[in-house]
Amino acid sequence: MIHLTAKIRSNSPVSDGYFEMTFDWPCDVPPPLPGSFFTVRVSEYAIPLLRRPFAFSGFDREQSTASMLYERRGTATRQLTTRLPGESIDILAPLGVPFPSPRSEALPVLIAGGIGMGPIFYLAAELYGAGQEAVLFVGARTNGIVPDRTEFGLVQTVFATDDGSAGVHGTVTDALVNRTDLLERRLEYFACGPLPMLRAVHQHAKARNEMCWVSVEQTMGCAVGACMGCAVRVRGPAEFARVCTEGPVFDSEEIAWT
Ligand SMILES: Cc1cc2nc3c(=O)[nH]c(=O)nc-3n(C[C@H](O)[C@H](O)[C@H](O)COP(=O)(O)OP(=O)(O)OC[C@H]3O[C@@H](n4cnc5c(N)ncnc54)[C@H](O)[C@@H]3O)c2cc1C
Ligand code: FES
Repeated sequence: MIHLTAKIRSNSPVSDGYFEMTFDWPCDVPPPLPGSFFTVRVSEYAIPLLRRPFAFSGFDREQSTASMLYERRGTATRQLTTRLPGESIDILAPLGVPFPSPRSEALPVLIAGGIGMGPIFYLAAELYGAGQEAVLFVGARTNGIVPDRTEFGLVQTVFATDDGSAGVHGTVTDALVNRTDLLERRLEYFACGPLPMLRAVHQHAKARNEMCWVSVEQTMGCAVGACMGCAVRVRGPAEFARVCTEGPVFDSEEIAWT
């Protein structure tokens, strides 16, 4: 983990309520991996007091820049939208357990919903860069929140919207079960998004006896394993796991879904 003051290169809206910020990454530090995250100290003042966690949404090796795709939600993210290129942000990175490399015998199925879009788009770009076939499913309330991304032209992409404004009218799991061509193959699932979506993807994957990785988002305190503020219920004797250090990516069978 490093503590850095990174110069912002760009910070602009990319869809309804969503922004992407790109910032300098030190050349001598290895690129962060998809699924790993960082925390930002948004203000030098007391509010908001806590650093906020965000996943990496991309990495540009030539420019040595990293990026995050974030939703404007509350105090911290509203403040972030006002930051300008040339200003600096205070970052602790990289944190957490990233997505594992896909197994060679299975087709990676990447599933993104809401604020989970960033890490999944990054994973899609990395798999494409490594010459690996993958299918990307993007679920959203409505088409307006889905940013226009180069990844959609690189890997096969399927959209699902709750209001039917793009792709399948329904959830990503509705879109998945429609794809009988894919379901004939061995698959490995990689998902990030709201908990109900992760639970549905887990149930779908387990019904097919397939491996499923989920990146869990949880409100965080310290983000370095000290406060238990980010604990999620897991199966087995430990009962709880810390999302910041043992996650955010888990084998979906580890989570005690309720
Ligand atoms: C590992 C990890 C990766 C994340 N990656 C991203 C990302 O790539 N893009 C992105 O936009 N956000 C991401 N988040 C969520 C992000 O940290 C919160 O949106 C942010 O902290 C909200 O801060 P705020 O002050 O603007 O809003 P607050 O005023 O703190 O909260 C506004 C609303 O957002 C909800 N919220 C706050 N934190 C979280 C959270 N961690 N998960 C779910 N809901 C939350 C609150 O319940 C509240 O309803 C991630 C969180 C974690 C733990
Ligand atoms: S946020 Fe403190 S232990 Fe995870």
